[in-house]
Amino acid sequence: MDMPIPTRAGLQFRRLSPHLGAEVEGLDITRPLTPEQVSTLRAALGEHGVLFFRGQRFDHDSQKRFGRSFGPLAIHPNTPGPEGHPEILPIHADATSKVIAGERWHSDVSCTQEPPLGSILHIHTTPPLGGDTLFASLTAAYEALSPRLKTYLAGLTATHSGERNYRRRNALNGVDDRGRVFPSAVHPVVIRHPISGRPALYVNRLFTQKINEVGEEESEAILRLLYEHAERPDFQIRFRWEPHSVAFWDNRAVQHLAIWDYFPQTRSGSRVTVTGERLEAA
Ligand code: SIN
Repeated sequence: MDMPIPTRAGLQFRRLSPHLGAEVEGLDITRPLTPEQVSTLRAALGEHGVLFFRGQRFDHDSQKRFGRSFGPLAIHPNTPGPEGHPEILPIHADATSKVIAGERWHSDVSCTQEPPLGSILHIHTTPPLGGDTLFASLTAAYEALSPRLKTYLAGLTATHSGERNYRRRNALNGVDDRGRVFPSAVHPVVIRHPISGRPALYVNRLFTQKINEVGEEESEAILRLLYEHAERPDFQIRFRWEPHSVAFWDNRAVQHLAIWDYFPQTRSGSRVTVTGERLEAA
């Protein structure tokens, strides 16, 4: 028998797994939202980590308006958006692509001092098959660590850098980035989530370079262990896009991975990123 779907402020939330993810029904997010709808979505994002919406025909203005309901928008440090819309990050792959965004597990631009609160991705064109996105709960991953490992990680910090990822992407895309400097930042390895207060693991394969308080070999071994642990299937959900689906994820509570199994087909859309704050240790 289907579980009843909880309703808040006229919205229905269909949970997708025990640890994270809910599909939201009953709301047109391309139109201005009421303060009650915004606070309901904000609370739901804190509870579920990632929210999904279907059939939302965003243009750049309505996508930016929806994003701004949750805070100021950031401009991507490597890829500012098109003319008139610097906050829009195009997400596009086709038969000419050499690389896609987000092919390794990551939290968006964790290389910045104040990593984003969250990202809102609208995909308008989907391949006939594939192009799913995986999301994994960083709070569930932390909770499942052994008490001894939690004690070891307490107080450690890690350096995150955009250098390796952005230079690789630019080289593959034929973009000359000589003379450019990419952000880098130090964050606690275990953060206190700014809204829920829950501890979350905050390291990822794309941006984390090293744990600062231990030697290189130990840092590599611990990071490998944490990456593999956080990527366990039981902390994950897999989202299957339809044209005009939208995903809104909390960048401090989940990490994500885009799957490029559809080459040479086209997958296309755009993302906006809501600014966040400095992260505190748990
Ligand atoms: C991203 O990392 O923002 C891209 C995710 C996706 O294309 O599914």
